[in-house]
Amino acid sequence: MKIDVSTTPASELYQILTRVVTPRPIAWVTTIDLAGRVNLAPFSFFNVFASNPPVVIFSPAFRRDGTKKDTLRNIEATREFVVNAAVESLAEEVNLSSKEVGPEESEIELTGLSTRPSDRVRPPGLAESPVSMECKLLQIIEIGQGPGAANLVIGEVVAIHLDDAILDPAGKVDSSKLRTIGRLGGDEYCRLGDVFRMERPR
Ligand SMILES: Cc1cc2nc3c(=O)[nH]c(=O)nc-3n(C[C@H](O)[C@H](O)[C@H](O)COP(=O)(O)O)c2cc1C
Repeated sequence: MKIDVSTTPASELYQILTRVVTPRPIAWVTTIDLAGRVNLAPFSFFNVFASNPPVVIFSPAFRRDGTKKDTLRNIEATREFVVNAAVESLAEEVNLSSKEVGPEESEIELTGLSTRPSDRVRPPGLAESPVSMECKLLQIIEIGQGPGAANLVIGEVVAIHLDDAILDPAGKVDSSKLRTIGRLGGDEYCRLGDVFRMERPR
């Protein structure tokens, strides 16, 4: 089967791409609006792209009605956000926080989660998540227009909170303790499965 991208509806391309590019890490993003109200939402169009300086990128797409998601609006207004780790023990809350609620309603209350103050940015982190990365906006790149079009939010990580409980004896993050979940296509997710090691060729 071959897909002619130029004649395939965007919704179908979304289904194909999100089933192929897997598993995707999930940025669980806290932001605030200008009134200080906290917003929480998950984004699986997400990754880390550099460490010097540390750079993360995620993409809140335009909604079906063409409007901007609250996360994007808040970042445009404040230029700050926090990426929290989406972990197995909080999977239900990750999913619940994707519910589309108005800006006056908080996903923090909806999920029953709580926040912790950040050190370098105004939006708080999620107290229940073992990792919070405080980010300052570097740039937003809009690609395309209309529903599903990308807004690449490029952020510099300026502070990182790590729960000691996810560290190994050497002080490094232990993936088997962190237990991030990954997003597949549709309603499917994955847990950390069979981990194997390979030494890099020298
Ligand atoms: C696991 C998961 C991953 C998601 N990833 C994305 C994404 O990468 N981009 C996006 O625009 N929406 C994504 N969504 C949908 C948003 O979370 C949803 O539209 C949310 O209501 C946006 O919230 P906001 O308006 O408060 O920013 C995802 C939903 C889930 C459950």
